[in-house]
Amino acid sequence: MTPLDGSNENGPARAPLEPSAAFRADALSGLRATPKRLSPKYFYDTEGSRLFDAICELPEYYVTRTERSILEAEAGAIASRLAAGGPCRVVEPGAGSGTKTRLLLRALGPERCVGYVPVDIAGEHLEQAAAQLRVELPWLRVTPFAGDFSVELPLPDAEPRARTVVYFPGSTIGNFDPAEAEGLLARFRRAAGPGGLVLLGVDLKKDPAKLHAAYNDARGVTATFNKNVLRRMNDELGADFDLDAFHHYAFYAPAPGRIEMHLVSARRQEVRLGGEVFTFEDGESICTERSYKYDLASAERLARSAGLVLTDSWLDGARRFAVLLLRAPA
Ligand code: AVJ
Repeated sequence: MTPLDGSNENGPARAPLEPSAAFRADALSGLRATPKRLSPKYFYDTEGSRLFDAICELPEYYVTRTERSILEAEAGAIASRLAAGGPCRVVEPGAGSGTKTRLLLRALGPERCVGYVPVDIAGEHLEQAAAQLRVELPWLRVTPFAGDFSVELPLPDAEPRARTVVYFPGSTIGNFDPAEAEGLLARFRRAAGPGGLVLLGVDLKKDPAKLHAAYNDARGVTATFNKNVLRRMNDELGADFDLDAFHHYAFYAPAPGRIEMHLVSARRQEVRLGGEVFTFEDGESICTERSYKYDLASAERLARSAGLVLTDSWLDGARRFAVLLLRAPA
């Protein structure tokens, strides 16, 4: 098993940028680009995570509660499939160690789960979540791995006694463009090893009006969440965004099958960040998030492109969301 410092059998990992330096570099390159863009990963500081939790409680945002309902109904069946070949080890990239993970780990139980490896960039948050989990599930061996899952993941032992399951819930895969999603799933396949498994949560294509409503809630929580990235650039990078001069704009584009979230400039304006001046035309937007929606056929194609085979799927009754089991060839 790979140690917490991010080193692996290929030698020590390159010293990663300090989180704030990475944020600054990504913000600058995104604002210099045409069209302007920012990565959705920068929504999630403490305030952004709180806002996302609030989104999950909104009547319009079906995503989280639907996935949870699938886990509540099917955790037993899912656990049986995961442990069909013997006990397994669960690796969770970007681990929230949330309700869904607990449902899964509880369903597996001590007999069928040899360990849980939450992976996150924020080492401190990771240790806290791990400590909490050890209290709730005292039988569980929790070994956090600090790292950027889009770059590296803990690799299975040379002679794995337990099959690795990479658990990637939440439809986070939707935030990746198709080529990136393929690359990410291929990395998961390598991390799972031959015969390993990937358990993936994907939001499904549905009535565009329903999708639209989920990202345009009546209370405006999603709008505040979207603007949180501007607030963070002001607070952490010394930028001078006027939050009232940008409007939340989210829509479903049927052809690529994705929600796009934007922040649209309400007027021509200039914004300063890191000694640079960025000009916004009236109506110019920053794309802050893409959230791809799949159907079973497109999800299966994505899995196959990453060298994985779709073996099982669990859906809610209204077919809003799917939990998919993907297998790496032995
Ligand atoms: C956490 C990426 C699944 O795309 O639905 C919620 C984030 N953005 N509302 C999603 C989000 C706006 C969410 N994911």
